[in-house]
Amino acid sequence: MSKTIIISNRLPVQLKISEGKLTAEPSVGGLATGLKSVHRDGDGLWIGWTGLMEEDTPEEMEPEIDKALAKLNCAKVNLNISEIEGYYFGFSNRTIWPLYHYFLEYTEFELKFWESYKSVNQKFADAILANANEEDTIWVHDYQLMLVPQMIREVWPNANIGFFLHIPFPSYEIFRTMPWREEVLEGLLGSDLIGFHTYDYERHFLSSVRRLLNLDVSFNDIYLENRVIKVDSFPMGIDYQKFENAAKENAANSEAEKSDFQKKLDEHKKSAPDTKLIISIDRLDYSKGIAKRINAFEYFLNKYPQFKEKVRLIILAVPSRSNVPQYQLLKKEIDELVGRINGELSTVNWTPIWYFYRSLPFENLIDLYTSSDIAWLTPLRDGMNLVAKEYIATRTDKTGVLILSEMAGSAYEMNEALLINPNNFEQQADTLKKAIEMPKEQQMARNMFLQNRLKRYTVEIWANEFMQALLAQKEGSLATFVSQKLTKPILENILEKYRSANKRLLFLDYDGTLAGFHKDPQKASPDEELYELLDKLNNQEGTTLFLISGRDKDTFSRWFLHKKYNMIVEHGVWISRNGEEFSMMEQVKGEWMEKVRPVLDSFVDRTPGSFIEEKNYSLAWHYRNTDPDFGEKRATELNTVLTSLIGNDDISVLNGNKVMEVKSSNVNKGRASVRITGEDDYKFVFAIGDDWTDEFMFQELPDSAITVKVGLKKTSAKYHIEGTKKVRELLKNFTDI
Ligand code: ADP
Ligand code: G6P
Repeated sequence: MSKTIIISNRLPVQLKISEGKLTAEPSVGGLATGLKSVHRDGDGLWIGWTGLMEEDTPEEMEPEIDKALAKLNCAKVNLNISEIEGYYFGFSNRTIWPLYHYFLEYTEFELKFWESYKSVNQKFADAILANANEEDTIWVHDYQLMLVPQMIREVWPNANIGFFLHIPFPSYEIFRTMPWREEVLEGLLGSDLIGFHTYDYERHFLSSVRRLLNLDVSFNDIYLENRVIKVDSFPMGIDYQKFENAAKENAANSEAEKSDFQKKLDEHKKSAPDTKLIISIDRLDYSKGIAKRINAFEYFLNKYPQFKEKVRLIILAVPSRSNVPQYQLLKKEIDELVGRINGELSTVNWTPIWYFYRSLPFENLIDLYTSSDIAWLTPLRDGMNLVAKEYIATRTDKTGVLILSEMAGSAYEMNEALLINPNNFEQQADTLKKAIEMPKEQQMARNMFLQNRLKRYTVEIWANEFMQALLAQKEGSLATFVSQKLTKPILENILEKYRSANKRLLFLDYDGTLAGFHKDPQKASPDEELYELLDKLNNQEGTTLFLISGRDKDTFSRWFLHKKYNMIVEHGVWISRNGEEFSMMEQVKGEWMEKVRPVLDSFVDRTPGSFIEEKNYSLAWHYRNTDPDFGEKRATELNTVLTSLIGNDDISVLNGNKVMEVKSSNVNKGRASVRITGEDDYKFVFAIGDDWTDEFMFQELPDSAITVKVGLKKTSAKYHIEGTKKVRELLKNFTDI
């Protein structure tokens, strides 16, 4: 039976060995806390790092570790000191983390970090290959493992692979500064489905894919030669019930059942009943804006001194990545800030800030959430921020105010919170005042909406939706194409027909079919292998071969005339048979070109990278080398301009693959190929092509013709095939009969 494999850097537990004894602690961070609930209810396997260093783990303890993990349906990947330094503290947390959170000044591009990242990603991929099989569903998580999807795909081409990024994906302008940007994107593209928390991260990613890899992107689908990858946003939810129930139990606790921590909080509340408690809870991370928050708190107390002794800020910072220099500096900065402000503002009865630097057990986290009047979360950049959602879920009486940075992914779903810009102290001071003074009814009205939303879209639903989308992608991606994949049995059938036909006619498109695209069309000339293949077909008894292309006749004369292949060029204006000079196949007029040429010139001037290809009876505006988004926009614009300009003339505009061509309406590959078909009693007619202009052939050739589209786009062809390499293999079969 197939199972679901979760793979992430962190496992849901962190193992420790002290005095020869193994202990386990729950992992902190949104990924581990969120996925834990999803994993708990399934029978899958979770693969990850235990948090132990290989050098600190006695070999004889390995079986005990494996056993403890197996009980939790987990399996481990061992990391040694140098891997942890290079892959985890290095590339993951000194390169990707700061870069993706827009902290360019903290980002270090170190080749040795990258090398380590690659080899450790391979280690994780190998762990999947050893623990799973190709039928399983593989779900890779987060920025530490971005190369894993492609590493799996290489070994298991049909695997079902999903990837989810738990942190932001930055804008192209930031992402493109990374030296290994293409490799990272290619690693991710091994997936079938790539998920982000928000639509903004999704569109940043798609823009990078388009610009850096020059791939076709249509809406949220990325087209590779042989696969389509879906990209979508799935905002992660929380285990709502768990937090709500914990809060209810907490409220029902008798005095004796209360935790010491809760008793302290109660004591404080009793001694100062009209003091408001503000909490801020995060991992100690510069992306969370903790230092700025403390400064903003000081600013608030100075702007509204009436709140001195009336509010207390509790800062809970969980130690995180303390080997990374920036985190050490931040720790120092916060220690000093808290010390200075408390020193300056404290009174005999009042300390403005309580600061805890530790991880708290779940129970105490709930104590804090439920005892506070306000939660104040000010990340400068945060993929999601689950603390905001957890706080709301614990407010069972619906009171409490959430102040949340608009830079957190969760802000998109939490409009009823008080949203702030963490860089705006003035706004934050005013918002704190508003929160402190907010009447209970208003608090409840806001939280009701928030709670209803969070209750509905829980982490379980999040995971289910992702999984469903992943399965649908696998099954549905091909179903959306009208054509059938040209599989082995279909090929056998075609070859049988080929063999038994005494007269065969082949129409072969050139660019994107027999040869790949090139930045400069003149450079996409035929190679020796292609000549050999075409020679064989051309010399085969009973076979009539036609190259059929939108190319100009001069180029094709240079490339193929000496080979004596039959050729139709400029979509059907010119024909050459058996090495003869080209002659006109259709009577076409060219006067319109004078009118259209200046329009195209103006588009070339205004669209860097685009150029005009002038043929005898048509003009083509190429935009393959332009900025992809800009090029598409300009193409749409040009289409509108040309359509109104040519009016009722017998001229039409063809949208090809990154090219717009203006030509006579009575010329197209369909009309040309049908004419040739009528010249003899052909028993086997075959046409293959990759772009829009080939659709005329697919539509107009008789029903009995075998029509094949190259690539996965929608088509009228009967079959599709995956790219130029496969086309050549197919044609080779024809030569081998
Ligand atoms: P990140 O993933 O960047 O750490 P999130 O807010 O999305 O930020 O997730 C943090 C998770 O860690 C939450 O689920 C929260 O409950 C947990 N957490 C935060 N602070 C503590 C703490 N002091 N002790 C234990 N768990 C914590
Ligand atoms: C964020 C990341 C997680 C990571 C967590 C804790 O939530 O998205 O992948 O696990 O922070 O960080 P750590 O480095 O301790 O795993």
